[in-house]
Amino acid sequence: MKITLQSSQRELLRSAVSSEMTEAEFVSLLEDENEPLRQFFSYYKCAIMEIETKFRVLNEQFSLDGESNPIEFMQSRVKSYGSIYHKASAKNIPMRLENIEQEINDIAGIRVVCSFIQDIYRLADCFLSQDDIFLIERKDYIDSPKKNGYRSLHLIVAVPIFLENEKRMVKAEVQLRTIAMDFWASLEHKLRYKKDLSQEKLALLSDSLKDCADESARWDDRMQEIRNMLEE
Ligand code: GTP
Ligand code: MG
Repeated sequence: MKITLQSSQRELLRSAVSSEMTEAEFVSLLEDENEPLRQFFSYYKCAIMEIETKFRVLNEQFSLDGESNPIEFMQSRVKSYGSIYHKASAKNIPMRLENIEQEINDIAGIRVVCSFIQDIYRLADCFLSQDDIFLIERKDYIDSPKKNGYRSLHLIVAVPIFLENEKRMVKAEVQLRTIAMDFWASLEHKLRYKKDLSQEKLALLSDSLKDCADESARWDDRMQEIRNMLEE
C-alpha cells in the first residue's frame, strides 16, 4: 500500500523529516505540512466510517433475527500525532509517511464492545467473511489472554475506500471485547501510565489486576451460560 502524495509534497516531507527529530519538531512538521497530511489522515477517517457502518449493519441485522443488539457501543479514533511519533520511535520506524503507513497498523482504531463473548466471534466472523475486507492479522487474546490478564479479539484488516478518482486500501485495527474486558482494560491502561508508583506497589497492583481479569473472565463465562440457558 503506497500513499499517493504528489512528488513535490513527497520531496518536501522526505527532506524535512529525519529520524533525530524530537516529538515537538515532528508534530510541528506535521502541522505545517497540512495539505498532504490532512489527506493522509482523512483516509483513516474514511476507513473508520466504512468499518463502523459494517458493524452497525450487522448489529441491525442481528437484532432483526429476534436477538437483542449484540453491540453495546463502539469507539473509534485516529491515532494522535504524538502516539504515532512514540510508536515510530519505539519501533525504529523512519519518520516518513510511507513508512508510517506501511508499518503502523493501528492509525485507524475501532473498538466494538459487546455484551457476550459469543457475539464477539459471530460479529467478527460475519465481518471477516465480507468480500471487501482483507484480514492481515488476527490475535485472539480471549482464547489466549496476555500474561497481565488482558483479553480482547484483535483484527488488523484492510478496507477499500472509494474516493473521487481512486479506490484505496486502508488498514485499521478492530478490537472486539465484552463490557467486562473493556472495564478491566480501561483501568489497567490508567495504571500503566502512573509513573510515580514504587516497584513494590506496582507488583501488588499488577497481581490484583490479574485477579480481577480472571474474575471478570469467569463473569463473562457465567453471563454466556445464563444466556444459553434462557435461549434453550
Ligand atoms: P502495539 O505495537 O502496541 O500495537 O503492539 P502489538 O502490535 O503487539 O499489538 P497488540 O495487538 O498486542 O495490542 C494493540 C492494542 O491493544 C494496544 O494499543 C491497546 O489498545 C490494546 N492492548 C494490548 N495489550 C493491552 C494491555 O495489556 N492492556 C490494555 N489496557 N490494552 C492493551
Ligand atoms: Mg498493534
